[in-house]
Amino acid sequence: MSIKTRLVFSYLVMLLIPVIMTIVIAHLAGDYYFNDLQKYGVGHSITTVKGALIERENQFSQIKNTLLQSPDKLLDTNYLKQLDEQLRNISSGIIVRKDNSVIYMSPKLEGFESDKYLPEFGRFVQDMPVSFKGGDNRLILSQQDFYFTNGSKGSVFLATDIHPLLSLFRRLSITVAVAVIVILVLINGVLTYIIARRIINPLRKLKDSANKIKEGDLDFDVDVESKDEIGELGLAFNEMRMRLKGSLELQHQYENNRRELLSNISHDLRTPITAIKGYVEGIRDGVAGSPEKMKRYINTIYSKAVDADRLIEELFLYSKLELSKLEFKFSEIDIVKYLEDCMEELQFDLEKRRVEIAFNSGGAEPLKVRADVQQLKRVIINIVENSVKYMDKEKGRIDIELNAEDGRVVIAFRDNGQGIPKEALPYIFDRFYRADSSRNTSTGGSGLGLSIADMIIKEHGGTMWAESAEGQGTAVFFTLEKTL
Ligand SMILES: Nc1ncnc2c1ncn2[C@@H]1O[C@H](COP(=O)(O)OP(=O)(O)O)[C@@H](O)[C@H]1O
Ligand SMILES: [Mg+2]
Repeated sequence: MSIKTRLVFSYLVMLLIPVIMTIVIAHLAGDYYFNDLQKYGVGHSITTVKGALIERENQFSQIKNTLLQSPDKLLDTNYLKQLDEQLRNISSGIIVRKDNSVIYMSPKLEGFESDKYLPEFGRFVQDMPVSFKGGDNRLILSQQDFYFTNGSKGSVFLATDIHPLLSLFRRLSITVAVAVIVILVLINGVLTYIIARRIINPLRKLKDSANKIKEGDLDFDVDVESKDEIGELGLAFNEMRMRLKGSLELQHQYENNRRELLSNISHDLRTPITAIKGYVEGIRDGVAGSPEKMKRYINTIYSKAVDADRLIEELFLYSKLELSKLEFKFSEIDIVKYLEDCMEELQFDLEKRRVEIAFNSGGAEPLKVRADVQQLKRVIINIVENSVKYMDKEKGRIDIELNAEDGRVVIAFRDNGQGIPKEALPYIFDRFYRADSSRNTSTGGSGLGLSIADMIIKEHGGTMWAESAEGQGTAVFFTLEKTL
């Protein structure tokens, strides 16, 4: 659930639950108070408010019936006293008025200023509450007008004391109000606590993780499990941590490669130069006695100088390519013919190193591509050199394949050498990268060969990639754009 829906949900709960509970509580409290009138000294045999109201209604109807049959009965004090007896049960009393003077008032109503409050004959509108004795007692008055048999105007009033009922209402209101406040505090408190906990706890975890990352610790999992925005943040955090870790590791690898490269360069440069120095010293000291010996010395010196020169050239070329300072001279060439020539040229050297090379053009038509012949040759040499260098089979083999596609040609060099470990494959085109460098140190190399080739192919508008099966061989591919 997202934080937004959670907030909306808790808002609704905060609204609905108090409303529903208030209604229920008011109902229950109402039942409790109104059905227990005796407790508050109202009735004797009647216990509910509803019962009391019905009883009052009944009593008043009976009085009206009596009036219809014999109105003068209201002059009979015995009858009135008996009536009073019954009315006490419902906290009521009666007042009888003949013409303008009150001729009977129940003792219960003592102190009631009848002149002040009783409506005139024929003026009564409806039952109404009246206060007396300083507003402490409140009465409900009902009035019935009639004529005595001698024609005098008569009114009978039923007055019910509602003071206990009012105190009941007061108690009820206080109970309900207190209940509402308690419910609001409880529900809001609990919901706020739950929501805050589900937001604050994960945030705290994220903060701890951020601190760990700040300290450089990247080997942990950010465990924020919630499925909301904070959970997503946790996932993003985790990914960031993993990327950071990966890039740090790569950086580390580069650092190591660079360090190794420096030591390789110094080592590789030193070897031919030491040799050159030794042979030159030999000549100077007259060790090369015969012309043949002299010629051998000079040849060795030359080939050592070539080695040193190559290494320096490779570094120089790489830095020029990286700085985009190398100029390319593009021309249109027939790639089929070009590869055939290349193969012939390489064959001589490869035979000596017991590696067979084959190009099956399948009698293809001439295929025109755009290329810088000199740089393209370097690409091919770098690839083939690797195949030879990392060859571990008795009978080495390199197969060149050519495939024309829409707008481009794909050229593949497949060897049956030692192959490249899966985890190293994505990096072999990176500068200074050498797979399993410990195993490779004997073969020498800068880790620049393939990245130089890749940069050259990119300048041609092509791409370069490799496939490999460890122990079985490697295939290196690159593409060139066809000309129209
Ligand atoms: N044909 C191949 N067979 C096996 N491994 C290869 C081959 N070509 C490249 N590699 C791997 O790729 C790495 C990068 O190649 P490269 O850039 O030419 O550097 P190097 O100077 O080591 O030859 C090599 O160190 C080697 O581990
Ligand atoms: Mg190489």
